[in-house]
Amino acid sequence: MSHNVSPRNYNITLIAGDGIGPEVSGAVVRILNAAGDAAGVKFAWEPYSAGAAAFEKHGAYIPPELYQSIERNRVALKGPVTTPVGGGFSSINVTLRKRFELYANFRPIRNLPGLESRYPGVDLVIVRENTEGEYVGLEHEVVPGVVESLKIITEKGSTRIAKFAFEYAARNRRAKIHAIHKANIMKMSDGLFLRCAREVAKGYPQIAYAEHIIDNTCMQLVMNPYQYDTLLLENLYGDIVSDLCAAFIGGLGLAPGANLGAECAIFEAVHGSAPDIAGKDLANPTALLQSSILMLRHLGEAGMADQVQGALESVYRERRFLTRDVGGSAGTSAFVDAVVAALEGGEC
Ligand code: NAI
Repeated sequence: MSHNVSPRNYNITLIAGDGIGPEVSGAVVRILNAAGDAAGVKFAWEPYSAGAAAFEKHGAYIPPELYQSIERNRVALKGPVTTPVGGGFSSINVTLRKRFELYANFRPIRNLPGLESRYPGVDLVIVRENTEGEYVGLEHEVVPGVVESLKIITEKGSTRIAKFAFEYAARNRRAKIHAIHKANIMKMSDGLFLRCAREVAKGYPQIAYAEHIIDNTCMQLVMNPYQYDTLLLENLYGDIVSDLCAAFIGGLGLAPGANLGAECAIFEAVHGSAPDIAGKDLANPTALLQSSILMLRHLGEAGMADQVQGALESVYRERRFLTRDVGGSAGTSAFVDAVVAALEGGEC
């Protein structure tokens, strides 16, 4: 990790995003700055816009300065960015993931205390391949009325994500990995993904390995999520299953994520820009806050990560300042005030 300017001073690229992005990223910056003050850690945030806002300002959806900032800092915190449907510019998220080879999308799914859920005590890890599959964006019209969309699966990409999943499982004493696929239909592409996963699995005899078909997996997850531990998925399946699993713990307002590569890491929530609630002080910043906790661990700031997690959990346990998506009535800013108060050891 070479992103420090000096120990405990961190330059972080900040992409606020759009929709609820500025609200949730502003919330997280405030909480991390407060936690940093208490822990002797300083963050120098380097803010950049991306997507439609960046195009208006700089004439580029991803300004070159943003790329350079991530190259320099190697760590970014990112709010959601709206992607136009059925046309317009390519997804900023997908572009950044490809550009920095952020091949592993890591998404832990765990309940927070104080929140009732149909499934208490869920502890799932989603490992999603983040650079290949249908997301390579290779689509063209063959003849009018016929469109071809390519799904690219490579041995290199599949082996690398399987290794990531098994290494993570081994280091974190996780017992079981399920590779999720549709190799009964996509015999070559998903077949290759599975062959690579099986090969990697041989090196980790202490970790149980199984394979489930994606459609059955969705049903099995809803029937009994406890049967799964770590899920290894291609890009599209991982995207869909992540939202499904977010529902186990209370919804998209809660589910964090990290995009990890050999050189850089971008931390962002599972959710999108939520235009339906943008600018109304309704967004739940917990998902991005939990993503920033993953970032702190990545930076080696485990103590500070525990402090922020503790403050967050105390606000949930107390239930007085929860946002509407999880059954409360507090606005984003009241929730953030409560987390900051909890960090400072005061009443929340
Ligand atoms: P979405 O995740 O933005 O919203 C789905 C539902 O969850 C909405 O009802 C929304 O209000 C709710 N929700 C999401 N995050 C929430 C939060 N933090 N607090 C409270 N409620 C929350 O998904 P949608 O509507 O499909 O996508 C909107 C836009 O976001 C699209 O342009 C999409 O491409 C983009 N997107 C961007 C992502 C990223 O930047 N990483 C990821 C996913 C989608």
